Amino acid sequence: MEVKILDLARQYKLIQAEVEKAVCEQMASGMYIGGKAVADFEKKFAAYIGVKHAISVNSGTDALVIALKALGIKPGDEVITTPFTFFATAETIAMVGAVPVFVDVEEDSYNMDPDKIEEKITEKTRAILPVHIFGQTADMERIMEIAARHHLVVIEDACQAVGATVLGKKAGSIGDIGCFSFFPTKNLGAFGDGGMITTNADDVATVCRAYKEHGMAQNGAKARYILEGVEDELAGTASPDGLYNPYKYYNYLIAYNSRLDAIQARVLDIKLDYLDKFNARRAEIAAFYNGELGSCEGITLPKVRENMTPVWHQYAFRCAQKDAMGNFLASRGVGSAAFYPVPLHLQKAFGYLGYQEGDLPVAEMLSKQTVCLPIFPELTQEELDYIVTSIREFFMA
Ligand SMILES: Cc1ncc(COP(=O)(O)O)c(C=O)c1O
Repeated sequence: MEVKILDLARQYKLIQAEVEKAVCEQMASGMYIGGKAVADFEKKFAAYIGVKHAISVNSGTDALVIALKALGIKPGDEVITTPFTFFATAETIAMVGAVPVFVDVEEDSYNMDPDKIEEKITEKTRAILPVHIFGQTADMERIMEIAARHHLVVIEDACQAVGATVLGKKAGSIGDIGCFSFFPTKNLGAFGDGGMITTNADDVATVCRAYKEHGMAQNGAKARYILEGVEDELAGTASPDGLYNPYKYYNYLIAYNSRLDAIQARVLDIKLDYLDKFNARRAEIAAFYNGELGSCEGITLPKVRENMTPVWHQYAFRCAQKDAMGNFLASRGVGSAAFYPVPLHLQKAFGYLGYQEGDLPVAEMLSKQTVCLPIFPELTQEELDYIVTSIREFFMA
């Protein structure tokens, strides 16, 4: 039997009729970027997350860059984050000229350890950027409390956690800004790149809208006022019918082009209706793995903290023989993944920061031991049985 780590074509079959109708309709409409499809999806996503504003962008990476810029993170500022994540989390901090400061993670949840944050705060610290890794939320209660005490902003990297909740709130609705990715492999995946920024703050939303589109027109002028206090008499309005905007090609900030395609918005809009059901199926699969693998000596199961509902973007357990396990499963036709084999503080790209092996021992240990199993909603029971049998065989071999 062959079981891939992820098979997106299976999900496509389930929603094919709806998606093809919507995509064809969108192509025929002549509206390909922005417009009603994108505005409708932003509104629906904001309501789902429970925030006032959702601003669509071209990727999770862009969401992070624009979030950092919108919150005024500047060259030389320090941003505290986790080393056990996808590269973009800290890459974007460096892209805006700031300095990523890594704190070690909790062994059980793989998330930033709140006990280790305060020792890293200096007079240059401006923000904390927790990641809800593998779909489990970080300890937001403690992180928000530390941030408030030190007057820091909080950017949630919720790229892997769409739909997860902590203390009854959705990931991405707790910090100053939430950032989401719609990369195809994510729990809510587009048919290409896409991302979203969420916030309850009107000014932050306006600045994000300006940054995603060349700092132009009314949003650009308003953003310049918000960021720099420079009022501009050109910040006038478009004609009431929207047919003419004399200020469209006035630019007020050096910004980005980061827009969500209308076709992707239509696909995501449909998939959002299925998200809770798909996430519930992931939870069922995780419970099955936990039940079946708990007795395997040599495996440390993932633990979920109280008061939170994860969305199981990955099912990750620890095993000291990570590579042997991955190769054995491959020999049985079972795909697995090693997220993340190099913690960010030891990535060559961050060599200039001067971290050494041993600086963040928990993240380093997890990088050597984490194995991720297939957990996509369309897996069959036969496949799941085959996966756990293969794992048991590994320990018997
Ligand atoms: C934790 C995390 N942050 C950021 C990103 C970047 O998102 P994207 O690939 O959409 O740019 C990803 C996804 O790849 C991610 O998993």
